[in-house]
Amino acid sequence: DHTSVAIVGGGPAGLLLARLLHRAGVDAVVLESRDRAYVECRQRAGILEQATVDALREAGAGARMDREGITHDGIELRFDRRAHRVDFPSLTGGRRVMVYAQTEVVKDLVALQLADGGPLLFEAEVRAVTGADTERPVVHYRHEGRDHTLSCDYVVGCDGFHGVVKRAVPEAVRSTYERVYPYSWLGVLAEAPPVYDELIYAHSERGFALASMRSPSVSRLYLQVPNGTDPGEWPDARIWDELDARLAVDAEPGWKLERGPITAKSVLPMRSHVTEPMRYGRVLLAGDAAHIVPPTGAKGLNLAAADVVVVARALTARYRDGSTALLDSYSDTCLRRVWRAEHFSYFMTTTLHADPEQSPFDTRLQLSQLEQVSNSRHAAAELAENYTGLPIPD
Ligand code: FAD
Ligand code: DHB
Repeated sequence: DHTSVAIVGGGPAGLLLARLLHRAGVDAVVLESRDRAYVECRQRAGILEQATVDALREAGAGARMDREGITHDGIELRFDRRAHRVDFPSLTGGRRVMVYAQTEVVKDLVALQLADGGPLLFEAEVRAVTGADTERPVVHYRHEGRDHTLSCDYVVGCDGFHGVVKRAVPEAVRSTYERVYPYSWLGVLAEAPPVYDELIYAHSERGFALASMRSPSVSRLYLQVPNGTDPGEWPDARIWDELDARLAVDAEPGWKLERGPITAKSVLPMRSHVTEPMRYGRVLLAGDAAHIVPPTGAKGLNLAAADVVVVARALTARYRDGSTALLDSYSDTCLRRVWRAEHFSYFMTTTLHADPEQSPFDTRLQLSQLEQVSNSRHAAAELAENYTGLPIPD
């Protein structure tokens, strides 16, 4: 079999790329190792930047998002038992974010692709990519108990952090940059109304907490926990008590979250990672396949979307007029934005979490930084600019 573009991975990056290429009239096949239900229900990100919202609309996948997504104009920071709101539109010339879960983005993209797109194969596990530096790379995969090959003009590795496509980039040209953090997140879904109209990011002596949401009746809540924590150590009452303690402010004595049944609980480790370059020969890497950020600041899904917007433009130009200039600049174009998001995610993570080894001096520095965001319009604007996301370069 042959196709123009083989897309490995049917997460948000691979599915969005498939839709953008479909709209541009470029043939593509998506190979996804898991089944449809698994991909659609995997609980992950919840915040979309303006550029991601625009890309989903451009891909024709904006209808339900525009009906059900919730626009947010800011976030609240809590520290030193005080609350401070960061208002995005006034600090960024009108930029906002949208709350619309990754699970819903994926469901919308899968439905569209199955309705009128090119092939999207579930339970098709890619084992290797060969011929990256030739004009006909080959994807080797296993589907329905048999080995298959797919020859193509380009391979885009959208296969996440544990993906195999990056191995097609020879070790001699591949560099990786990494940082692992000494804490994890316990993430829960609760059938309880959101704590507040916007997200709350809290620094406390007991560690970080984040109150987010999935809908007007479902909360998504996170607590910093030690690495290696077993979610079984966290019965529901302990989770609610800890959220109450970490989110407490002096101005609202006795304030407590509204409790409800907790329907999912998991522990997520945190890591920063970049693989360079993001292109080698006819193989391109996009999304988590090329870079990981710790989740504080909600950049992971948004970076993945931005990468594939750039891939789609580059491949569209290549098939429309034969120009490979955008393919040649792909890696540099994306990496500049990736490193900005890497720094922002690192900044948010290390400013808000309690490192188990940190000294009282380190804590004072964190509080001083948070104070600066509250008192200086420049510091607040920098946070708002990064949080709402940088534009995707033309
Ligand atoms: P993925 O979503 O990882 O998709 C990759 C796809 O490739 C998967 O469907 C996988 O099954 C498939 N695949 C892998 N290997 C193969 C293979 N060999 N053959 C075929 N298919 C393959 N970001 C935030 O902003 N906020 C959050 O709260 C947040 N929480 C997260 C929680 C977890 C547990 C994780 C892992 C990530 C979280 N992220 C979060 C990050 C965000 O979800 C990712 O950045 C986003 O999913 C990246 O999309 P992607 O398509 O690049 O990769
Ligand atoms: C969510 C996750 C994040 O990492 C974040 O910074 C904000 C919100 C969420 O899952 O809703």
